[in-house]
Amino acid sequence: MTEAIRRATFEPVIEVWPGPIEVGVRVAALITDLVAATPHAAIGLPTGSTPGPTYAALRAVAASRAVDFSGLTVFLLDEYVGLAAENPQSYRSTIRREVTNDLGIAADRVFGPAGDASDPEEACQRYEEQIAAAGGIALQLLGIGRNGHIGFNEPGTAFDMRTHVTELSEDTREDNARFFVCLADVPTHALTQGPATILDAGRIVLIATGAAKASAVARAFVGAVSVDCPASVLRTHPDVRVVVDTAAAAALPDSVPRVVHGAEG
Ligand code: PGA
Repeated sequence: MTEAIRRATFEPVIEVWPGPIEVGVRVAALITDLVAATPHAAIGLPTGSTPGPTYAALRAVAASRAVDFSGLTVFLLDEYVGLAAENPQSYRSTIRREVTNDLGIAADRVFGPAGDASDPEEACQRYEEQIAAAGGIALQLLGIGRNGHIGFNEPGTAFDMRTHVTELSEDTREDNARFFVCLADVPTHALTQGPATILDAGRIVLIATGAAKASAVARAFVGAVSVDCPASVLRTHPDVRVVVDTAAAAALPDSVPRVVHGAEG
């Protein structure tokens, strides 16, 4: 059932870049700016294909030694149920391999909900406490699912939920099957920061690239703020930056303000 939300909404800053590489360079610059101002900040990071170019750009900055990322604390957006942190397919392993190891961030400063906990609900509570103990997340990076999900908050998730156990939709399992040998291997449940956890971040940066995301991006930022499109809740946060490529922006009506950048920026 549609739950339209009536609360203050804000206009996010929407930046449109030519393609995924430019999006990645731009988002890496936003993160680098944060680190320059606040070297010991906590940031929230997602896995998935979309942030790949961002992480490549961050690794390049780290390799050049232009910025010291080692003071950061990292909080994962979500984690599969049933996978221990050490499992190569866990999101914690993935984020270490793709980002934090090369950024010089110690493994014990990379937090995620414990996918293999015997009591997942308790693990969710503990994760909320870890985020709070770090002083909250200064910048949360997000992708968006084709169905409008953020993290593993699938359509219908109440906006006041915090980190919780969720059952993955079939769409999401199929989308993620490419990271596994076969669909049957994709876990059925995950632990995810809830919409309320995500909204507590100081700044939110949502990235989307490719035509497959165009409809979800349009539903997130046009029309009702509704649990039918979880990303639409981002319009209730005062500091959201949406960094998309031309293909992902294609379904936004002309009435939606945006800043269009060329390849040179
Ligand atoms: P993707 O996933 O970056 O792999 O497309 C995004 C998401 O589902 O949130």
